[in-house]
Amino acid sequence: MKKLLFLVVVMGFVLSTIPTAIVYAETEGANLLEERCSVCHPTSRPKSKQKTPEQWETTVNRMMGKGAKLTEEEKVILLDFLSKTYKP
Ligand code: HEC
Repeated sequence: MKKLLFLVVVMGFVLSTIPTAIVYAETEGANLLEERCSVCHPTSRPKSKQKTPEQWETTVNRMMGKGAKLTEEEKVILLDFLSKTYKP
């Protein structure tokens, strides 16, 4: 009986963290855009565009070449956010 209760608690915890993780990645992507992509131009520059995931990757790589500061991990989060939010 105790074991079952434990399982229910664990399952509830696991299920409740999944949406949190998705929301977290989304706000994190938006934050990265505001923080790292507003250094040289307003964020309206990327926000006015609509690109496929491949095009966003090319753009972000190009911006990193100019000096945009992103770790590999942050780049993945930002690309995911851009591709989902500003798509054709
Ligand atoms: C070190 C300065 C710098 C940073 C940081 C920077 N950019 Fe740019 N960006 C530029 C310059 C300069 C241009 C205009 C010249 C050009 O397009 O090459 C530009 C143009 C753009 C354009 C329009 C051209 C296109 O390819 O569609 C987009 C979109 C863009 N940047 C997105 C971003 C994003 C997203 C980030 C954050 C990862 C970012 N930029 C960070 C310098 C920067």
